[in-house]
Parts: sequence; C-alpha cells; structure tokens
Amino acid sequence: MNQFSQIILSENINQFLHKIEVKNIGFTQLNELFFETTGIVDFFNDIVEFEDFKQHFCNQNVKIDTISRTEFGDFQTNNDLSIRVVKRIISQVQNPTILFEPTFGEGNLLLAGLQEFDSIERVIGVEIYKPYIWKTKFKILDYYLNNSSKNKPIITLYHESIFDFDLNNLAKNTINDKILILGNPPWVTNAQLTTLESDNLPRKSNFKNIAGLDAMTGKGNFDIGEYITQSLIRNFQNHQGSMAFLVKNIVIKNITFDQKRNNFFIKNLQKFHFDAKREFNASVEASLFFCDFNYDAEQFCHEVNLDKKTPFENTFGWVNNKFVSVMEDYEVYANLDGICPFEWRQGVKHDCTAVMELRKDGDYFFNADNNQIELEDNLVYPFLKSSDLKNKEVTEVRKYTIITQKKIGQETDYIKELYPLTYQYLKANEDAFDKRKSSIYRGKPKFSIFGIGDYSFKPYKVAISGLYKTFSFTLVFPLNDKPTMLDDTCYFLGFDTVEEAIITHRLLNHSITQNFLKSIVFLEAKRAFTKDILMRINLLNLARLLNFVDLDLDYSFQKKWDKYVQNLHNEQLTPQLSLF
Ligand SMILES: C[S@@+](CC[C@H](N)C(=O)[O-])C[C@H]1O[C@@H](n2cnc3c(N)ncnc32)[C@H](O)[C@@H]1O
Repeated sequence: MNQFSQIILSENINQFLHKIEVKNIGFTQLNELFFETTGIVDFFNDIVEFEDFKQHFCNQNVKIDTISRTEFGDFQTNNDLSIRVVKRIISQVQNPTILFEPTFGEGNLLLAGLQEFDSIERVIGVEIYKPYIWKTKFKILDYYLNNSSKNKPIITLYHESIFDFDLNNLAKNTINDKILILGNPPWVTNAQLTTLESDNLPRKSNFKNIAGLDAMTGKGNFDIGEYITQSLIRNFQNHQGSMAFLVKNIVIKNITFDQKRNNFFIKNLQKFHFDAKREFNASVEASLFFCDFNYDAEQFCHEVNLDKKTPFENTFGWVNNKFVSVMEDYEVYANLDGICPFEWRQGVKHDCTAVMELRKDGDYFFNADNNQIELEDNLVYPFLKSSDLKNKEVTEVRKYTIITQKKIGQETDYIKELYPLTYQYLKANEDAFDKRKSSIYRGKPKFSIFGIGDYSFKPYKVAISGLYKTFSFTLVFPLNDKPTMLDDTCYFLGFDTVEEAIITHRLLNHSITQNFLKSIVFLEAKRAFTKDILMRINLLNLARLLNFVDLDLDYSFQKKWDKYVQNLHNEQLTPQLSLF
C-alpha cells in the first residue's frame, strides 16, 4: 500500500502542486521548495518517499487505515481544543524560541503552537506513526500556503519512538533557548500494553522504583503518558520555559505527588479541566497540565476550568508532609490526619472468580458456569464484592467463596483429608488456579489465596469499596455464625463485638469524617479508597471531637463508648503490626 494512501490533499495543496508542475520536479528540488514554503527540513527523507508521493498525487484515492491503535494510546487533540489550549497558556509563556511536541500525531497542537507564538525559531516533533507524519506535514504546507507571510521557523519532524529519541541531547543543545513543550502523550498504561503484547514501552518500565509485593500486585502499573511527562520534566527542568501537556488527571496527581521525592525545578503547576468525554470521546478524565521550568520545586497544583478565566477553584498537593486533594478544606480537618489505631485490611484475593465465586440454591452451590457443586460447608463463607456495599448494613449475601487457608502460605493438603468434596472440586479446577498470572502465587501451596489472616475471621466488619466513589461505610454482619468475607476490591476493619463495629461505623459515616476524607481522596484514582488513605483516619482524635450522642447512639452505649475510646488509646500506644 502506498504510504500516502490515507492523505487527502487539500484543494490549496493540489493547486500549488499543479502550479509548480510537481510531476517534473526532482527530489532535492521539491524538498528545497517545501523547505522555503514551510520551514520543514527534509520533507521527504529519501527518494522512495518522494516517488511514492508523486504516484499518490497522480492517482489520489484515499484508503482509510483500520488497524487498531490502542497500544499507541491514540487520542488526537482536535483543532478547536488545540487552539483553546494554546490561547489559555499564551499569557503565561513568554516568547518561547523552541517548540517541542514529543508525540505530535496529526499535528493539531503543534500547528496551534506554530500559529500563536511568533517568537518560535525552531520546531521539533517526534511521532511513531508514519501516516500521521504525512498528515502533519501537509497540514503545515496548507497552513503556509494560506499564510505565507507568517513566522516560519525551521521544523524538524522525526519518525521515531520517543523512547529512543535522545532527550538528553536535545536538552543539551537547547539549554540557551526558551522552550515550550506542548503535547498530548499516549493514554495507555503498561498493564494494557502487556495485555496487548505490545512493546511500545520505555526500557526502564519500573521507573517509579516500586519494589516487592506492591510491584507484583499492581502498584507498579503506570501510564505511558506519565513516564513521558516525567522524562521531559527531568530533562528540561533547568531550561527557561514551560510545559503544557494534555494528560489523564491521575498523571497530574502523580506528578504532583512525586514532587515530594523528585523535587523537580518546576513551579506554577496548574490543571485546566475540560470535558474529555466530549473532546476525545474517552471515558477517562483528562486535563491540561501546565508548569514553568527552572524554579524552586513547588509541591502543589492549582485547578481551574480551561475555558473560564476565573481564579483558581482548588489547590491540591503537599501540606506538612501530607498529600491532600482540597487544601482549603483540609486545613479545617487536618487534626484528623494521623494514623488509624486499628489496621485497615484488604479483602481476599484469589484471581479465580470462575471457580471461587459461588451462589447457593438450597443445599447446592453453583459456580460461574452454573455447574452444580457439592461441598462441605466448612470452608465456604459468605462473600461480598464492592457492588454489595451500597447499603449502610449487610445482613445477607448473593455469593459465597471457598477459603482455603487461614493465613498466607498455609499448606492446603489438609483439605484432601478433611473435606474430600471441596478437594475434589478444587482439584478438578486445578488448571484455573495454575493459570493465575500474578507472580504472588508462584511457589505457593495449591489453591492459595491472599489477603487472609486472623483479621478475616472477625465476625463484625466495617467496610468500604475501594472502587466506588461514594464516601459510605457499610456494617457487615456474620451469617449463620460465619464471618462474611470481602473481596480484594474492599477494605475493612474487623471487630469481635457488634458494639465496637457499630460505634466505628457511626464514626466513619459522620459528616466530619466524610469531609475530612473528601479533602484527602482523589476520585480520579482507579481506587479512590486505599489502605494508605484509610489508615490516615485518626479514629482517636475523631472520637475526642465527638461523643456517643453525636453519633445518634442511645445511653445504653455510654459504657461501651468509654471502653471503645480507652481501647483506641491503648491501640494508639501499641499499634497493630501490618503483615499484608
Ligand atoms: C494521545 S495521541 C496525541 C497526538 C498529538 N500529540 C495530539 O495532541 O493530537 C498520542 C500520540 O502518540 C503517538 N505515539 C504512541 N507511542 C509513541 C512513541 N513511542 N513514540 C512517539 N509517538 C508515539 C501516537 O501515534 C499518537 O499519535
């Protein structure tokens, strides 16, 4: 297929090419002519490209490429948004001399920068996908055919992966320039790329230096756009200039969060909101991230709407070693930010839903394939998932699960002896267990699970979904004298008595706690609530602020309340140790 087969030449370009009699022009001559017209260096890199182009020009029939571009995180910035982005930052960016677009795609942002900044002397762009390079080149040609008197910088467009591009060298060669990095890097995570078996990845994939279990269980997952943003800041932080980058909101949060340890020389961090659904037809929140280089490191970021010239609506970032989502509100509740005397736990992880999640009908259990299964009751427990935590209390369940171990790493041979029916079922589905990809299962006893310990067997629990964005805690009761288990999307505190659970449930659902949580939680995170966030709720300070009457508890609770607060004191002095 001709490499230009997707390029639609505008009427303007067609006329221009006819006028210069392109059919009779040689390779060097056409490159020179295009350079004079557009500033683009080596419009055609070689004679093959040149010949292909001539053929396309003589025989223009457009074929649209239908290959999947998921692995390239391909969300092109439309023309209108590109102009709005540039106009928004123009007053903050003073006379840049170099414009750098690291993954320029169809070139709308690059062109918007070119149009709006007369001071630019050089443009550098990188893009991995050749058809986009042609689209951009012809867009620039079209622009200069219509605006021949406009500023014409020297433009170099590289067909290369940004991961192979020598950023360090570019930084060295431009150290005396005023740079504007303008772009929209790929929106894709390394986990998605692994699933797609794509190698569109930086060589150093653990750039956050996440170690051990966290790396294995997903904390090491990162956005490719975040990697590119961070690499650019690292390389250009000593330059005069700024960066304006369209990225997922979570990337902006992470860049600001990592300022604590990175201390990049950036300031005026800003997040400009827009409707990503409308602009990109994407179901992910994204914004424009802006910062200035070459200043003392700032560790907070202001937020405002892209299209409204109003004062900042919010600021998030670091306050006294704490990372917070709404700085202004946080000041009111900072006293609650500490260490929870009780340890929050994550629910059971088995990565084997088809086998391990059961429903019960009469005396029988049924798995995801609707196979009827006979099991001894002993290892079967009521089981809740995030979607079951919508109400204030849970007294019945939709599902059950098999708990094969009482603690992590426990041998599972005992099942064969004591519970032959359960063993038979597990054994028949051994394949599904063995296929589990996560390396945490490697070298562990057969049918191993994670997120299990004494705490899992506490009869009363107060739980929250990590995935849902509702600030609501659920009181979970045992069923038929068996503790109810939660899955690994949920977090919980476990208690021996119902009174402790009720008091904790009321404390956590109190408006003060909710407001405090709203000032530290980032809803754009895949898991808004994590163990790290929940462990910050200082229940003792909360209990000191409130009393049992504030919690709508009647006087029969007075003694239990006193005991509870005393218990919080004791736990605060000797906090529980975390194992997982
Ligand atoms: C989110 S799109 C944005 C394109 C353009 N910056 C814009 O604003 O419209 C990301 C672009 O990155 C390109 N891309 C993906 N991986 C790349 C890589 N490793 N090196 C260079 N470009 C890449 C894709 O082809 C795509 O054009």
